[in-house]
Amino acid sequence: MRIGILTSGGDSPGMNACIRAVVKTALAPGTSCFGIRSGFQGLILNDIHPLGRDDVRYILHRGGTMLYSARCPDFMLPEKRQLAYQNLAKHGITGLVVIGGDGSFAGAQAMEKEAGIGVIGIPGTIDNDIVGTEMCLGFDTACQTAVDAIDKIRDTATSHHRLFLVEVMGRHSPAIALRCALATGALGVLVPGTHYDMAQLFAALSAAKARKKLSNIVVVAEGEETGGAALLAHHIGRHFPEYELRVAVLGHIQRGGSPSVTDRELGARMGALAAEALMDGKSGHMTAYVRGQVCLVPLDTAHTSKPAPNQDWIDLIAKLGA
Ligand code: F6P
Repeated sequence: MRIGILTSGGDSPGMNACIRAVVKTALAPGTSCFGIRSGFQGLILNDIHPLGRDDVRYILHRGGTMLYSARCPDFMLPEKRQLAYQNLAKHGITGLVVIGGDGSFAGAQAMEKEAGIGVIGIPGTIDNDIVGTEMCLGFDTACQTAVDAIDKIRDTATSHHRLFLVEVMGRHSPAIALRCALATGALGVLVPGTHYDMAQLFAALSAAKARKKLSNIVVVAEGEETGGAALLAHHIGRHFPEYELRVAVLGHIQRGGSPSVTDRELGARMGALAAEALMDGKSGHMTAYVRGQVCLVPLDTAHTSKPAPNQDWIDLIAKLGA
């Protein structure tokens, strides 16, 4: 059997550990691996190369993805997918491991349906917003990176009695913001999906001001609308002129860096399971982390809805950050 591997969408720490695990699991006699570069784009352009044991040496601890990644709107076009099928056939590839988010899984499902390619998805996104798994590859590292940065911001915020709005990633997802706000003792958190409900935050800012605590951290998820934390800072500043406000946008540093132990472990376990599943003739599944176990769940359920922001978390952050 010939197995193709690609990484697609935003890269996430742990992808290399996962690629390594797929390749090393597929070293069985009669099985070989091929790396497809730059996600689905590489399938269309026939950027497909054999991937052996030596190619995955010394990559486990490295951030990014050795296979490169891309978002590929072209893959929505049937004629481009036909090119991809022809290229897979040229290499004799009949099974594919797709590491990415829900958009990548939609591409994988189209391939299974239209060309009978065996597909196994591995949830790799720092946004941790794939339904069916409690943890996606890269989320833990991204949170650690953001927490390290917020701790540093806290030092200078305290020294200057300043209020900082720290913007973390998550256009549609509240996950990084919620976890990091809790982990850094933020005064509050603003996330997409709640329309940036300011009432709770304004109450917390008023209470902190009354206690003369002017140094505070508020974590903001970037959200879909332009302006992000900068716009919210303007709004807050008009209501609370007593606070000296600063904005810090953490941006793409959250996607890079050496993967945490958790992401290395997830990459290893999910990569091995994905390769085994394809070798066993399985298809149409995603590897998932559920209650400490790595298992397979149907791909159909992997992208049905986005998790709603958890009000219990928002309330706990407000309670402990006050
Ligand atoms: O990969 C997920 C993510 O990092 C989101 O959190 C963020 O909104 C988006 O990707 C940024 O995408 P890009 O790198 O294409 O600007």
